[in-house]
Amino acid sequence: MTERDAPILFLDSGVGGLSVLAPTRALLRHANVVYVADNAGYPYGTKTEGEIAARVPALLGRLSERYRPRLIVIACNTASTIALGAVRAALDVPVVGTVPAIKPAAEASVSRVIGVLGTKATVRQPYVDDLAARFAADCTVLRHGSADLVALAEAKLAGMAPDWAAYRAVMAGLLDQPGGERIDVVVNACTHFPLVADELAAVSPGHMRFVDGGAGIARRVAYLTTGQDWPAGGGTGRAVFTRADDAAFALAPALALARFGLTRIEGL
Ligand code: DGL
Repeated sequence: MTERDAPILFLDSGVGGLSVLAPTRALLRHANVVYVADNAGYPYGTKTEGEIAARVPALLGRLSERYRPRLIVIACNTASTIALGAVRAALDVPVVGTVPAIKPAAEASVSRVIGVLGTKATVRQPYVDDLAARFAADCTVLRHGSADLVALAEAKLAGMAPDWAAYRAVMAGLLDQPGGERIDVVVNACTHFPLVADELAAVSPGHMRFVDGGAGIARRVAYLTTGQDWPAGGGTGRAVFTRADDAAFALAPALALARFGLTRIEGL
């Protein structure tokens, strides 16, 4: 493989990282991309810090040897808030992480009450405490960790109809907290959640805004790869599953959508 063919590699536990891949591809049409869904390790959000810290750097080490990426995007808040430092220390490749967009949320909030919707593992991370203290010190930051919403996003991409009661229950987990009725901006602090933005908006108060880090990560990737050589004639996209089962291959139509461009599926 020549340098110009070296891909940008995205990692998530499932389909969530597609919400980061899409804006990145929109900026870098010419890049080859490898999208890795660690479905053998899914879900990440209910695992312990120790399990994520052991799994993610080892997996990315293996993936780097196999695909020789020019840059890695950990397109997962859970993995990034727990293991970003360890991955950077272990690998000789630039690594971009995904961390909750608390800063833009605090900038946009008028009520000064913001919500953070993530996985259970993400919302309890000191990394989130630190972001809240640095960028939202004058805001009340209400958090809700939901494994159900991750599963709802997976179900949507698999072509299933929305379970509206389940969506409402997720939002109630945030809005029913003391002060929850004053939330005006919600951080989608899990990469799965922007994939169900329409469904979330449909069960939320009309004034509520949702923000996520996807566009910012895309700009960061474009910046870090400025001036590099790219394949002639547009980039290719392949999806790699750590467990190549029927459910993985059933995602083929969703992965092949133009905004994702993943036209080849394989197992690791
Ligand atoms: N998409 C992931 C995140 O951003 C994790 C989902 C999961 O596997 O629980 O946190």
